[in-house]
Amino acid sequence: MQKIAVVILAAGQGTRMKSAMPKVLHPVGHKPMLEHVYDTARAVGANDIHIVYGFGGHQVRERLAALDVQWVLQAEQRGTGHAVEQALPAIDDDEIVLILYGDVPLVRAATLQQLTAKVSKESIALMTATLDDATGYGRIVRDQNGMVQRIVEHKDATQEELAIREVNTGMMAVPARHLKKWIAALDNDNAQGEFYLTDVIETAVAEGMRVRTVEPASMDEILGVNNRIQLAEIERHFQLRQARALMESGVTLRDPARIDVRGTISAGQDVEIDVNVVFEGRVEIGSRVLIGANCIIKDAVIEDDAVIEPHSIIEKSLLGRRAHVGPFARIRPDTQLGEDAKIGNFVEVKKAKIGAGSKVNHLSYIGDALIGKDVNVGAGTITCNYDGANKHQTVIGDNAFIGSDTQLVAPVEVGAGATIGAGSTICRNAPANQLTLSRSPQKSVENWQRPKKK
Ligand code: UD1
Ligand code: CA
Repeated sequence: MQKIAVVILAAGQGTRMKSAMPKVLHPVGHKPMLEHVYDTARAVGANDIHIVYGFGGHQVRERLAALDVQWVLQAEQRGTGHAVEQALPAIDDDEIVLILYGDVPLVRAATLQQLTAKVSKESIALMTATLDDATGYGRIVRDQNGMVQRIVEHKDATQEELAIREVNTGMMAVPARHLKKWIAALDNDNAQGEFYLTDVIETAVAEGMRVRTVEPASMDEILGVNNRIQLAEIERHFQLRQARALMESGVTLRDPARIDVRGTISAGQDVEIDVNVVFEGRVEIGSRVLIGANCIIKDAVIEDDAVIEPHSIIEKSLLGRRAHVGPFARIRPDTQLGEDAKIGNFVEVKKAKIGAGSKVNHLSYIGDALIGKDVNVGAGTITCNYDGANKHQTVIGDNAFIGSDTQLVAPVEVGAGATIGAGSTICRNAPANQLTLSRSPQKSVENWQRPKKK
C-alpha cells in the first residue's frame, strides 16, 4: 500500500461568515469543521497531514494545537494550486497526495478510500458530482469517449461548457512525484488571476495519464460552507447521519430530525429517545434506557434500564442500572446514582453519591453528600453545604429516613437507620437508629381572633 499524504486547504478567509473567527473553526456538532476533515483524513489512514492555513492562522493553530499535523502557512492566497504547492516540499515523492478542503466537513472516509484506490502509475483520481445547478463550480470536460480532458472554472467557461452538470468537488488524489512537477508549471493566466489546482488535470491528460472519477455516496459529502445558512444546513445533514447511525445500532428515535449529538455517543439495544434530546461530550448509554423529551445529557454514563424523564439535565455523572431521574431533575457534575436510585422532580444533585435504592423524590438540593442505600430523603430537604466560604459534606447512612423540609447543616452525619423528624434543622450528628428532630414546640392559642378588616 502506498502512503497517503493529505493536504487540507484551509487558508480561505470566509468573508461571508461575517465572523471574527476563521471559517474552518466554526463548529459542526460542536467540533470545528477543520477537525472533522482531519478526523476523516486519519480514518483514511493518512501517513502525514498538512494543513494549509492563512487567514486567522494564529487562532486556527491555537485552537487545533493538539492535532498531529504539519502546519503550512500560505501567507497570500493566490489560488488552490498555489495553496497545495506550499505543502509539497514536506511530502515524499512516492506518496499519494489526497487534497481535501477544510470547509467541506462531511466527506466520508469510505468515499476517499475509493478515490485513493483509483490512483496508479497511469491514473489520477478526481471526485466529481452531477448537480442540477452547477453554478460556481468548475466543470468537468470529457471527450466523445467520456474521458476527462480538463476542468474549466465557472468564470472561464464558455456558454457550452456552462451547460455541463458534472462538477469538480475539489477533492482529488494524485501521485506526489507528478503533482510537484505539474504544479510547478502552473500559470495564473485566467479570469481570476489565480494558480488553479484544477489545471493539473489537463497537464496529466497531456502526459498520457488517465483521470478516473468517483462520485460521493451522498451529496452532503461535497457540501462546502461559505455562510451561516450553509453551516446550519450542514449541521442538519451531520445530525441526521448520527441519528441514522444510532437507529442502525438498535436505538429507537421518536424523530430523527429532533436529536442533536454534539460529541460521541454509544448505546446498547432497545434504547428509546424521545424528541429534542441534546447529547454533548462523551455519553455512554446501556441497553433499554428510556430518555424523555427535552433532556440535555453531557459527559455521562447511563447504565442499563435507567429511565430519564422529560426536561432533565445531566452532566458529568453516572446513573446506575434502573436509576430513575426526573421529570425536571438537574444532575450536576460528579454525581453517582446507585442501582434503582430515584431522583424526582425539581431536585438538584451535585457532587453526591446516592446509594442503591435511595430516593430523593421532590424539591430538594443534595450537594457534597454521601448517601447510603435505601435512604428516603423527604420533600424539600436541603443539604446546607456552603458556609459562604467553604463547602462541607453531609453523610447519611443506609436505611435512614429524612423527614420533609429538613435542613442538614454540613458538615454533619446521619447514622444508619436514623429517622429525622420533618422540618428539622440538623446541625449536629444524628445517631443511628434513633429519632432526631429539632422543632419548636407546637402551641395553640385559645380564643384567638383573626384581625378583622376596618
Ligand atoms: C474550487 C475549484 C472548483 C471547484 C470548487 C468546489 C479551483 C481553481 N477551483 O473553486 O473547480 O468546483 O472549488 O468547491 O481549484 N484555498 C486556499 N488558498 C487559496 C485558495 C483557496 O487555501 O489560495 C482554499 C479555500 O479556503 C477553500 C478551498 O481552497 O477551502 C477552495 O477555494 P475556493 O476559493 O472556495 O475555490 P472555488 O473558487 O470555489
Ligand atoms: Ca468554494
